[in-house]
Amino acid sequence: MLENKNILLGVCGSIAAYKSATLVRLLIKAGANVQVVMTPDATSFITPLTLSTLSKNPVYTKYFEEETGEWNNHVELGLWADLMIIAPASANTMAKMAGGLVDNLLTAIYLSAKCPVYFAPAMDLDMWKHDSTGSNIGKIQAYGNIMVPPGNGELASGLHGEGRMAEPEEIVAFLTNDVKSKLPLYGFSILVTAGPTYEAIDPVRFIGNHSSGKMGFALADELAALGADVTLIAGPTAQVCKQKGIERIDVVSAADMLNACLQHFNNARVCVMCAAVADYTPAEVATQKIKKQDGELNITLKKTIDILKTLGEQKSNGQLLIGFALETQNEEQYAIEKLQRKNLDLIVLNSLNDSGAGFKSDTNKVTLIDSALTKTVYDLKSKTEVARDICTRIVEMIKQ
Ligand code: CTP
Repeated sequence: MLENKNILLGVCGSIAAYKSATLVRLLIKAGANVQVVMTPDATSFITPLTLSTLSKNPVYTKYFEEETGEWNNHVELGLWADLMIIAPASANTMAKMAGGLVDNLLTAIYLSAKCPVYFAPAMDLDMWKHDSTGSNIGKIQAYGNIMVPPGNGELASGLHGEGRMAEPEEIVAFLTNDVKSKLPLYGFSILVTAGPTYEAIDPVRFIGNHSSGKMGFALADELAALGADVTLIAGPTAQVCKQKGIERIDVVSAADMLNACLQHFNNARVCVMCAAVADYTPAEVATQKIKKQDGELNITLKKTIDILKTLGEQKSNGQLLIGFALETQNEEQYAIEKLQRKNLDLIVLNSLNDSGAGFKSDTNKVTLIDSALTKTVYDLKSKTEVARDICTRIVEMIKQ
């Protein structure tokens, strides 16, 4: 969730500033770009050099850098940030935030920032309990700032109680969850299938297809990036998920994929059936390797169960079912026929007649057709961009 996010860390004068070093490390580890701004008093608790080394960026402490004569532009820093976290947030800085006072670079950036601002209070028990602290926190929360609540425990003064800054791990978890909770697919369970299926002939041979799994994995990644809880049922493929938190279930045959889908379909609000499932499987699987003989070898195939059609029959109100159709002729007619026969809400049509579309390539060209037969034609794009288009449509359909 924090990957590639620009995070501005404000550090105030508090003994908890020693934890800022760990916080910077954890944010960098989560893939964020971190810049640090410190109040002048914060530099007495931890050096700018420490935070600069860890963040791999200059640390700002004042408007003017006397040595270089450079001006640290608070507006630019505020605009750079995707999110700002003030940790530790001292009682003094929170009072300034409540009153709109600007007497240092940190408070100037805070007042010009347009991004979400989080603050993690840190102070002694009696300061925390003071009515003015409670009233300032109420005000800055009413302005839309988000508090990472302090912990309860031993304080630097020796007192025991509330006021201890949340641990850096807790702050990162809080930010991650909060960012996720604002995403459009947060709280939605989505089932995605990807890749080919392999149908065993004997212990060493199978019938497969050219599906690479790229489109399904791109979809799973994009859905997870939009906050969905994604379960990915994947046939044999070398693809890996880029997003963390995707539950991946590896299967081999169409029958395995059917079983896995049936297990997870009820919990899914949306199911995207992207896998290229075998339509036929050997009627008998030889238990020993079939030895070469003179003449022809005939293998009898039986039909597999159509997973998508089975799910379409089980679909309950509110569930969205999305299928794919890879066609070589009469594309739209066949896609619409599949959409209706399998009780789908949306079908993604690829035509093998479009160069750059289909199996193995990194690009795809799709047409989306919904149950009202509204058709949207997209240009040839990377599979990641196609996944983004499909996800935009899923978000719209969920909101309807
Ligand atoms: N599909 C499925 N189970 C199968 C076969 C296909 O769930 N046994 C799904 C695919 O994942 C895809 C959609 O059905 O989302 C369409 O697959 P496709 O192979 O194009 O269509 P079929 O229904 O198999 O029809 P045909 O092969 O005759 O074109």
